[in-house]
Amino acid sequence: MFKKILINKDKKYFVKNTDEDFHTQFGSVKKADLKKNKGRVKTNKGYELFIIKPRLRDLFEKAKRGPQTIRLKDMAVISAELGINKKSFVLDAGTGSGFMAIFLSSIAKKVVSYEKRKEFFKVAEQNKELFQVKNLKLVNDDVVNVKEKNFDAVSLDLPEPFEALKSIIPRVKVGAFISVYLPQIDQVKDLVMKIEKYNNEHEAKIIQVKTIEVLQREWIVDKRRLRPKNVMLGHTAFITILRRVL
Ligand SMILES: C[S@@+](CC[C@H](N)C(=O)[O-])C[C@H]1O[C@@H](n2cnc3c(N)ncnc32)[C@H](O)[C@@H]1O
Repeated sequence: MFKKILINKDKKYFVKNTDEDFHTQFGSVKKADLKKNKGRVKTNKGYELFIIKPRLRDLFEKAKRGPQTIRLKDMAVISAELGINKKSFVLDAGTGSGFMAIFLSSIAKKVVSYEKRKEFFKVAEQNKELFQVKNLKLVNDDVVNVKEKNFDAVSLDLPEPFEALKSIIPRVKVGAFISVYLPQIDQVKDLVMKIEKYNNEHEAKIIQVKTIEVLQREWIVDKRRLRPKNVMLGHTAFITILRRVL
């Protein structure tokens, strides 16, 4: 568990143990100073650092990583498109390292997340512990076996979303949004075609609201430079938003 962060403009240090002095490239910080929750601390070399408590955003930097995680830029848009709020009951799958599940839990009332592989389920459990998440239930099973029902929203990040959707659709509320995260556009087309077929064969009806991509370009803004960074995080995945309408 990371208790404190020592930070300046260029560096961030995560402090686990506040019972002994903490060493940084700017010198060491006395354990008495590590007990503070905020304020300035001075290192033995005279440098100043700020002390703060870690937030969700910081902990993602320290979380364990198994399979590819959903990026922050996409998590934010997915959560907004799903319309999640403090009353929402949300299904997430596959859990992977649990990044999306943990992010959703910070907004929703309750999240259930399914992961079929034991080794990733264990990584997610460790991350749940690191973030001290109370409203997240992790299930080590294929999401086609989902037991819970009456979901307000669903976030899927797995390679065969339609197989999962066949089990999930009857378990989401009419009006609920479903997000599907897929890296390749032919996977999106396949999904949309299968949804069309599903609608013809079932009473429940799903519409495709939109398929989007989130491009984020970071800029350098200082005294001398006002320009985008040379390197940009390009394509991550396509986000397809579906909605149950009947
Ligand atoms: C790309 S990772 C998910 C990453 C996760 N969303 C995150 O942000 O950390 C995909 C995960 O889905 C799991 N998975 C694939 N098919 C599944 C299924 N039918 N049910 C449950 N988990 C599944 C895989 O084992 C893998 O861990």
